[in-house]
Amino acid sequence: MVAADSLREDVIAGLSLPQKTLSPKYFYDATGSRLFDAICRLREYYPTRCELALTRRNLEDIARFTGRGAELIEYGSGASVKTRLLLGALRPAAYVPVDISEAALQGAAGRLAREFPWLELHAVVGDFMQPLRLPVYRRRSRRRRVVYFPGSTIGNLTPEEAHAFLRMTRGQVGARGAMLVGVDLKKDANILHAAYNDARGVTAAFNLNLLARINRELGGDFDLRRFAHYAFYNAALGRIEMHLVSLAKQTVAIGGHRFGFDTGESIHTENSCKYSVEEFRTLALAAGFRSERVWLDAKRYFALFGLVAS
Ligand code: AVJ
Repeated sequence: MVAADSLREDVIAGLSLPQKTLSPKYFYDATGSRLFDAICRLREYYPTRCELALTRRNLEDIARFTGRGAELIEYGSGASVKTRLLLGALRPAAYVPVDISEAALQGAAGRLAREFPWLELHAVVGDFMQPLRLPVYRRRSRRRRVVYFPGSTIGNLTPEEAHAFLRMTRGQVGARGAMLVGVDLKKDANILHAAYNDARGVTAAFNLNLLARINRELGGDFDLRRFAHYAFYNAALGRIEMHLVSLAKQTVAIGGHRFGFDTGESIHTENSCKYSVEEFRTLALAAGFRSERVWLDAKRYFALFGLVAS
């Protein structure tokens, strides 16, 4: 669980900025996680399917890249279909899922322990965007550390933030370490647009749930009918931006705080940065990683990079 205090502080601080902003990490309460699963099954939302297909298709090659007996550290959700595929093929000595949700981790770890009885499991509750202290790192280990960061979650970071994050990860895996990172690629803006503006409105519900969560957990009084989902491709910055746009001039109260909205004023809720293979390769290199392998799906919509410390 994310401490309610940091949610409150972050919300108050974010809504006090000239461009009101909320962090996408707060999308994933129980309802938000369910909505995200529904997004992943949408016809328009290609990233999940593309990444799964390219992972399936290149499993042996990915396993050759990491080598056997590594320490596989996964940032974000554990227990996904992709994770199971990798664990079976890579045969790591240890698996270290890192997630801010203790409940999600415990459920996943229990299931994986039964499915992969030979696997050493160390679940770590923590925010992988912050420098981590992993218990398993304290003892000197000759195992190769491989960070697995699928799903293009790195797209939530601006290139500058992604640079800092990759540097930090490079420090965590060490000189012999590696990283497998899923990255959504630049493509026809219509395809990008559709993926974040699905016909059934699941992405809109996912975005608006952030306000519902603030109402539930912080006693806010957002009127969800007076905000609209707005997502567009910002070509200049190479990213999808998601916003919640106020449909009226209104004031919203959260605890003792009040926030004024003009008609058309937005809360920026997410960036989803898209890269070309070359752009990401350059970004990784500047952060201390050489792109040894790049695996793509058939449509070249999504990439999995096999990075090694340079
Ligand atoms: C989980 C951050 C990769 O950016 O595509 C999906 C989240 N937002 N639809 C993405 C998301 C709207 C997703 N990531």
